[in-house]
Amino acid sequence: MFPTKRPELDAMLSRLLIYLEAPTAAAKVVAALRAAPTQEEQIDLAVALRSLKTGWTTPLREEYFRWFITAEGYRGGNTFASSLRRAKNDAVGLLSDSDKAELKTVLEARPERRSPREALAARTLVKEWKLDELVPIVERGMKSKRDFERGRQLYSAVACSACHRFANEGGSVGPELTGVVGRFGVRDLVESMVDPSKVISDQYQAINIRKKDGDTLSGRIANLSAANVNVVEDMFDPGRMTNVRRPDIAAMEPSKVSMMPEGLLNTLKEDEIQDLLAFLLSRGDPQHAMYR
Ligand code: HEC
Repeated sequence: MFPTKRPELDAMLSRLLIYLEAPTAAAKVVAALRAAPTQEEQIDLAVALRSLKTGWTTPLREEYFRWFITAEGYRGGNTFASSLRRAKNDAVGLLSDSDKAELKTVLEARPERRSPREALAARTLVKEWKLDELVPIVERGMKSKRDFERGRQLYSAVACSACHRFANEGGSVGPELTGVVGRFGVRDLVESMVDPSKVISDQYQAINIRKKDGDTLSGRIANLSAANVNVVEDMFDPGRMTNVRRPDIAAMEPSKVSMMPEGLLNTLKEDEIQDLLAFLLSRGDPQHAMYR
């Protein structure tokens, strides 16, 4: 049955396979780890794999231990970092000396910190999609045979998940999207991706600040009433704030430019855009008619 593509079920089935030392568990669970779009699912699978003894090949092990390097770049606080360290130590504890020698490079590698922005920059341009050509493509595509899993992966791959919470996944610097798709038709939805600045939802508007010394900056103000204004200039890095003293401010006005990047659909092919939109319009429900 594994993988069922239902994350909660797969988390349990993978543990069962691993507990039973199923001969195919290593290959199957590592493949699921590779395909899992969210950090939560990946962590579930990777932690479960730490106690598996049978069925490993060197390439599978390499891939597994390489995941720990990627995961060091995930946000999640201290408990998360230490439980991953423990899982990795457990897994390394099962290796023979010759395994360890063979995997030395991966085991000792430093994390490649890749932000969603860098991941986006590495994608190749397919086309500068226009609203009017995309609307019929999306409408045509929503009837049936969409790929749920791919839509879900693209939601992370083109960084929507970095800013938007949707169907219980993703960040929250932008509006939560689960409710939005109920209010929006296909055209509005596509437009908000192709041309984010056309309609800016006011709660999430950026503010342009001009300082008395002539400097300017733009971003979301994170605090309202204090002697200093904290500005988040980069939505991909919401923890980093620029501090501006109120007396230094000459003028503040709402920005006409959305903080959502333009052109996020431009690295996607037609059927990928259809899968991404289906994921949104189905509200993340794999049982929806458009997947049949
Ligand atoms: C860097 C952060 C960021 C990324 C990445 C991002 N968005 Fe946004 N998005 C925002 C912000 C901020 C707003 C609210 C301001 C606005 O309306 O332009 C927004 C607005 C929207 C809206 C309109 C919501 C409303 O209530 O009006 C939709 C729909 C949307 N985004 C979908 C997406 C999708 C789909 C993706 C991935 C292709 C994506 N966004 C990627 C930050 C982001």
